Amino acid sequence: MRVGIAGRVKEVSYAIRDLVVHAEKLEAEGQKITYLNIGDPGLYFDTPEHLKEAIFEAIYSGFNRYAPSKGLPELREAICFKENKINGVRGLEAEDVIVTAGISEGIQMFLGAIAEPGDEILIPGPSYPPYISFAKFYGAKPVMFRCIEEQGWQPDLDDVRKKITDKTKGLILINPNNPCGSVYDPKVLSELISISGEYGIPLVSDEIYDQIVYDKEFTSTASISKDVPVIGFNGFSKAYLVPGWRVGYMYFYDPEEQLTELRENIEKETRIRICTNTPAQKACVSAIYGPQDHIPELVSKLKERRDFTYKRLNEISQLSCVKPEGAFYAFPKIETEKWKDDKDFVLQALFETQLLFVNGSGFDPTYGRGHFRIVFLPSIKVLEEAFNKLESFLKKSV
Ligand SMILES: Cc1ncc(COP(=O)(O)O)c(C=O)c1O
Repeated sequence: MRVGIAGRVKEVSYAIRDLVVHAEKLEAEGQKITYLNIGDPGLYFDTPEHLKEAIFEAIYSGFNRYAPSKGLPELREAICFKENKINGVRGLEAEDVIVTAGISEGIQMFLGAIAEPGDEILIPGPSYPPYISFAKFYGAKPVMFRCIEEQGWQPDLDDVRKKITDKTKGLILINPNNPCGSVYDPKVLSELISISGEYGIPLVSDEIYDQIVYDKEFTSTASISKDVPVIGFNGFSKAYLVPGWRVGYMYFYDPEEQLTELRENIEKETRIRICTNTPAQKACVSAIYGPQDHIPELVSKLKERRDFTYKRLNEISQLSCVKPEGAFYAFPKIETEKWKDDKDFVLQALFETQLLFVNGSGFDPTYGRGHFRIVFLPSIKVLEEAFNKLESFLKKSV
């Protein structure tokens, strides 16, 4: 067969899932793996009852047809309610919202609409990998700006400015951040908004962990921007515990209508993929207007797990870890030269302890190097066992 593989797909990788292949092989040999690699809260926290009922109700009341490509109007209204009332974005209307199959599809559509081969996309280093992979997929160059570990992984504003060129087509922010767990300071956000305005570079703010913060308040980028447009990304996968429903959204905060052409072209992209899962969209309306008590419960449990993770990791002499302020990830530094690189470390840890982490270079070869990511969603009991194993593994390898 003359199967031609397009060059663009050869560049695509997703460290979080790529490593699972090794773990599955061990599992097939009868070993029990502790997966601390995937940020799926649905593995450890049950979906709220009212949402399970809502999706059945949606199916039984006929929401089984194609939905409008931009999303169900009642969901887009509900999203505006949430973003305006809870996150303080001003004046968002249903027309400004596009429902996507998770933020993942939003990333693909946004970059698909703006990135030409040779263009550059500014992305936090380290970053959630699909921003890097989709940029490459469209032939653009992901340009990583430094986030400063010693300053709680806040973006380095000088580095952002230094890396802007004529080819820069987008500036991505992830707040709260995956993989570092940082929550951006409002002052830093204001500066990033000014940079976007000054250079006329579209600003994206991925806020999927907006409701999962511990000791610091979350500030939505659009809520503090006056005239600079912001493209907000968010969804239901994390705080509402329905990652498998694949419902997310993007909104355009665009008081001076500078993004009209971009918006129209992204809308064209939504039409070629028809729509997002209809019953799941309908049920997500209930996620916004229904009871919210599972969220403080989730955050309080995660805060205990965060505190425990932070304490234990810093007790292990070959590791150091910044305190995560949001999301459910810790991103410790490996303070030893014992391993060839962080991937070697993660693979050896998997083979010897059956713990699966993600290597930091999978989130950026420069700024993620020498680190690894731990998901602290599991119970303290599971985490305790994992950290004990990790500690003895590291002691043995000195
Ligand atoms: C920063 C960030 N954005 C987006 C996603 C994916 O979201 P969705 O399930 O809405 O595609 C994740 C998932 O881990 C994430 O960490």
